[in-house]
Amino acid sequence: MNTRPSSWHRLPSNNQRGSPVTTIRQVLNDARQQLQPASPSPSVDASALLRYVLDCSASHLIAWPDEELSSEQLSLFSDVLQQRLQGKPVAYITGEKEFWSLSLKVNSDVLIPRPETETLVEFVLDHFSDREQLSIADLGTGSGAIACALASERPQWHITATDASAAALAIARINVSSYRLENIELVHGRWFEPLEGRNFDLIISNPPYVASNDPHLDQGDIRFEPEAALTSGASGLDAISHLAELASDFLKTDGWLVVEHGYDQQQAVHACFEYNGFDEIIQLNDLAGQPRLTAGQNTSKA
Ligand SMILES: C[S@@+](CC[C@H](N)C(=O)[O-])C[C@H]1O[C@@H](n2cnc3c(N)ncnc32)[C@H](O)[C@@H]1O
Repeated sequence: MNTRPSSWHRLPSNNQRGSPVTTIRQVLNDARQQLQPASPSPSVDASALLRYVLDCSASHLIAWPDEELSSEQLSLFSDVLQQRLQGKPVAYITGEKEFWSLSLKVNSDVLIPRPETETLVEFVLDHFSDREQLSIADLGTGSGAIACALASERPQWHITATDASAAALAIARINVSSYRLENIELVHGRWFEPLEGRNFDLIISNPPYVASNDPHLDQGDIRFEPEAALTSGASGLDAISHLAELASDFLKTDGWLVVEHGYDQQQAVHACFEYNGFDEIIQLNDLAGQPRLTAGQNTSKA
């Protein structure tokens, strides 16, 4: 039997000097100190968790440092802080993650959208900005991050977003409907299987690309993310190879395949695109300067 008192009745905590911790400033300072050994970003995490508990903006925390928290707020903060101290990613605690200009719903069924994936969004917007109509397939859409970002910027483009995980698609559906993105169609299935007989101007994907024995899988936030969203065979390249091999059957002539990949996979992905007949191969770094994206054009006739 659980003999712990209900968290809602827990009393406000004391800091290391024994004084009660009850104001925004004190709670933030105390949380930062506690998170120091557990998180690579203690200040950012403390602020995000407190904004979640108080349902307020970052500027509110700065403007009102002496505001007192109620005992219920203190108790809820103590709960979420414990979850973070046990390693759970902030986005899974708060249930949301900023991506592009959007605040997306996330849970442990989807990969937490990464800032480096905005490189792919930016590339597509820059490279195809002159195209009024585009039909795009976003394979392995997860939370719908890439599809939602593109659809919100270009309402005239049509995006078919797929995923093998029905649970991930349920989250994508929430994001699509909360931003009323009527130009996204969500389809359940493995890679190209649900797209038989269709052709696209653009196939984009941030597929799983971590090697299955990568030691990082046992560290940090990534431990909590779905394995199917992360790993792809011994080299991490199984999904990308599969996409490059089959994409030309689903691309219009002169259509493009654009994939995100690992920083150390640039050469292998270039070779894979060449081997599968792609021309005009473009490779880009992300904002941190790491190789992150490969795009290639399918010039073969259908
Ligand atoms: C790295 S996550 C990317 C999620 C999202 N596009 C993003 O950028 O945040 C890869 C996604 O591919 C999906 N996936 C894995 N294997 C798949 C398959 N065989 N067919 C379709 N989707 C797959 C996973 O469920 C996951 O949602």
